[in-house]
Amino acid sequence: MIDFSSLPRRNKTYAGANGSKIAVMYDDELYMLKFPGIARKNKDMSYANGCICEYLGCHIFEIVGIPVQKTLLGTFNRNGKEKIVVACKDFTTSDTVIQDFASLKNTIIDSEHNGYGTELPDILMAMEEQQSIDSEVLKQRFWDMFIVDALIGNWDRHNGNWGFLYNCRTDEMTLAPVYDCGSSLFPQADDEIMKAVLDNPAERNVRIFNIPLSGIREDGRRINYFDFIYSGKSQDCNAALKRIMPRIDMKKIDLMIDETPFISDLQKRFYKTMLAERKEKILDRTLNKII
Ligand SMILES: Nc1ncnc2c1ncn2[C@@H]1O[C@H](COP(=O)(O)OP(=O)(O)O)[C@@H](O)[C@H]1O
Ligand SMILES: [Mg+2]
Repeated sequence: MIDFSSLPRRNKTYAGANGSKIAVMYDDELYMLKFPGIARKNKDMSYANGCICEYLGCHIFEIVGIPVQKTLLGTFNRNGKEKIVVACKDFTTSDTVIQDFASLKNTIIDSEHNGYGTELPDILMAMEEQQSIDSEVLKQRFWDMFIVDALIGNWDRHNGNWGFLYNCRTDEMTLAPVYDCGSSLFPQADDEIMKAVLDNPAERNVRIFNIPLSGIREDGRRINYFDFIYSGKSQDCNAALKRIMPRIDMKKIDLMIDETPFISDLQKRFYKTMLAERKEKILDRTLNKII
């Protein structure tokens, strides 16, 4: 178990609204340490489980084979209190900086909407019209991420939560590894909620068919993952589903969860159950329908 409390600090800073962050050196490499944020929707919880969810979500992307930031779990002690934190290896280099999709979207001069607008047609248009990266590569990443986000129940994949590495020397732009999966896998569910959900299929179904909603919107409303994917109405989404499904190895995912430090048997059972049922009822079901 890693104790991140007394590592050398760096002056690099990170934005984002879900909790404090500091830059530290660990094993000669730069890491962003993410601290747990406040559980705004659950007053019974002092802090959300976002750090655990970040680790689990990122490892699921890794198992599926989508490039993702490296994450480690550890502890951080401050004023006698110990917190569980997630360390995200900084994927920028001396030549490259991160540029999010929102800033790429801002380059579309004729768009009426701003970079942070998450209306799906607006995002699709920006992906077609931008000039910095092959639009097929870009669209594939967007939809691949959409499918994995549906599996892990990510409600926060807004335009600031994915993006690119820009090489300031060569002017080249490439897809950045996936980052910020902290709003996945029900970060505000405490032990009581997990127990209730495991005991009650109706509680599980709500968390499969109704919540969480996607960060992407259609007609002003957040997309419901099941309704959208099961409708089969987006050919690009269908193609991503076909591409990603053979790469979701539930045995590997279960093993990864079993080996995750700090979490209880209840948490392990909860995460494994929700992932298995979301896969079956959203993804398997749609795949059976469309092939
Ligand atoms: N592994 C990483 N390496 C470099 N920069 C990162 C990495 N992960 C995130 N960032 C940058 O830091 C910002 C904040 O991180 P993020 O995980 O999105 O925090 P939050 O959950 O608070 O939104 C991101 O928007 C991104 O610009
Ligand atoms: Mg973020």
